[in-house]
Amino acid sequence: MSIVLGIETTCDETAASVVKGGREILSNIIHSQTEHHLQFGGVYPELASRKHIDLLIPAIDEALIQAGVTRHEIDLIAVASKPGLMGALLMGVGAAKALAYAWKKPFVGVNHIEAHLYAAMMGQKNLSLPALGVVISGGHTSLVKIQAVGEYELLGGTVDDAIGEAFDKVGRMLGLPYPGGPQIERLAKDGDPSKFAFTSPQVKGKPLSFSFSGLKTQVLYTIKERQLEDQEKKDIAAAFQEAALRAVISRCLLAAESLGLRTVFVGGGVSNNKRLRELFPPHLQVFYPPPGLSLDNAAMIAGLGYHIYQKKGESDPLDLIPSPTNKTLFF
Ligand code: KG4
Ligand code: ZN
Repeated sequence: MSIVLGIETTCDETAASVVKGGREILSNIIHSQTEHHLQFGGVYPELASRKHIDLLIPAIDEALIQAGVTRHEIDLIAVASKPGLMGALLMGVGAAKALAYAWKKPFVGVNHIEAHLYAAMMGQKNLSLPALGVVISGGHTSLVKIQAVGEYELLGGTVDDAIGEAFDKVGRMLGLPYPGGPQIERLAKDGDPSKFAFTSPQVKGKPLSFSFSGLKTQVLYTIKERQLEDQEKKDIAAAFQEAALRAVISRCLLAAESLGLRTVFVGGGVSNNKRLRELFPPHLQVFYPPPGLSLDNAAMIAGLGYHIYQKKGESDPLDLIPSPTNKTLFF
């Protein structure tokens, strides 16, 4: 069961990938739909589902060709089955079930958030565990203790917005195109974070949890009161980014200290942010996803699918129901 075809359609990326042995990426095809959603200022769910229909089969074909394998050499099909936009999930899960049935291959459903975390582990031959794990994406903000691949203890999550969601909303307030995260990082480079006193508040009684909606509101009120000069926009971007990222760093430091851990795996789209990487102190050994694996991709799905199959065997292709939410921690 070494060669895995991964499929990812949880949101607005249509992706397919072939991965060998859980780590060796033979192909990683990502068709971003961003340009189609730009005019809506965010992801338009119905459009995302329809675009997956157009893009998925060509993406799977490309993934096989680029990997230099035929369908006969595929040992397992892994698909992101939760959480995500329901219509979008149904497209990927439906396609994966059909292929598993037609090709007579085993099939597993993979949790997209856990896969983001696995992306940071994927580049490492020898994992130093236990470790801290942080998923910072458009839909999720979670801090976990990783005992092993597939074994996690939830330490904290967001009580309101996800961090990437806050970047995207503040981006929109500043008149930046979607997704706001990379745009804010670009503006923040020329901004002075000390010009605005934004903070991401502590959650009462939960020192390892996150809250970003208050921070977002602080930016909203600041913007409402003034006609922004270009430099002010840059300063606001820098001050917001600094507050949001420092919230992640402070929770990691607290958790690392109290649990006696020195290794951190960081996954999800926000892990692309260069300023975040500067802010981690040198006494922590921090691992990030290899290039191309921070944002939504199918290589992390195929990679983690390999481990799930090793541990739990296949899921029934005709039984698995995708879920838009993540009720249990990961599985
Ligand atoms: O992991 P991802 O592709 O999708 C989800 O599973 O949500 O993450 C997308 C999120 C978006 O909110 C985007 O604005 C954010 O990641 N993002 C960034 C950066 N690049 C992407 N946020 C801050 N700085 C970045 N450089
Ligand atoms: Zn994601």
